[in-house]
Amino acid sequence: MKGGVGKSTLCANLAWHFAGMRNWTRRVLVIDLDPQFNASQYILGVSRYQTDVMAACAPTVWDIFEQQSRAPGLRAANRSLTDSVQRIINFNGGGYVDMIPSQLELSFTLKNPSQKEHLLSNFVADIEDSYDLILVDCAPTESVLTTAAYLTADNILIPVKPEFLSTIGLPLIRQSLTDFERSYRKAVGVSGICFNMCADYAPEENQSKTEVRALSAAFGWHVFDEEMPFSRSFPKGAREGKPIFWTSYARSNVSAKVSAFCNAFGGQIGL
Ligand SMILES: Nc1ncnc2c1ncn2[C@@H]1O[C@H](COP(=O)(O)OP(=O)(O)OP(=O)(O)O)[C@@H](O)[C@H]1O
Ligand SMILES: [Mg+2]
Repeated sequence: MKGGVGKSTLCANLAWHFAGMRNWTRRVLVIDLDPQFNASQYILGVSRYQTDVMAACAPTVWDIFEQQSRAPGLRAANRSLTDSVQRIINFNGGGYVDMIPSQLELSFTLKNPSQKEHLLSNFVADIEDSYDLILVDCAPTESVLTTAAYLTADNILIPVKPEFLSTIGLPLIRQSLTDFERSYRKAVGVSGICFNMCADYAPEENQSKTEVRALSAAFGWHVFDEEMPFSRSFPKGAREGKPIFWTSYARSNVSAKVSAFCNAFGGQIGL
């Protein structure tokens, strides 16, 4: 319920971390569930997105939602929904990152959303045994795509930028979860709140963290002690299509903090 808090950036870095960092050798799938397709561009890189998704007319997450109408990616001969899963990188230890990219036309699904909320979770049920971790990158506004994400997920991770507007957003996301659980009779856990873009000096930041911690305690939500620092390496990584720990000038203390958060998240969800 809040844009630009670092959802896509965090999602991409978590994927790379668990597939190939240090002792992690997990099989990871990232599903880009945002018509803005930022996670696709970040993880694939902008030029590979153009060639392997757009020019190749590859099926994307849009095809999963429009499978009855056979969206363009499925029209080519012999293509199935499983062709929407692209292998991004194999790490030496055996871990890998796969991705289901998104495309702008996913916004058409928002105009005609009826009966489509179960299509993603149905598809994921068929392929989930191939993965240890499936990350779904959500759009900032609530829609049928949010419901599809809740139906697919066991847990949600909530990145929070420590500023005043975040405190307003948290009750909205709780209401959204409560409404969902009542309508669909499925529980979705909250794996925790991740403070992102922390600079560690502003009084406003500390005030916001205090308020978020109080709200989270009232909601019964975990708040990670490990925080993600503010760093220019994140936009730099997005430009280069690289994890934070591979960017050309990521300071080692930034990489270490990102690793610490990722490891804590892995522990929290029992990975
Ligand atoms: N820890 C960080 N420090 C500095 N910049 C960051 C950090 N995390 C993300 N960014 C930058 O902030 C911007 C927004 O990040 P991102 O796209 O991940 O947010 P989002 O929550 O996915 O946005 P949206 O709601 O539009 O999907 C990007 O330019 C990204 O590079
Ligand atoms: Mg995003």
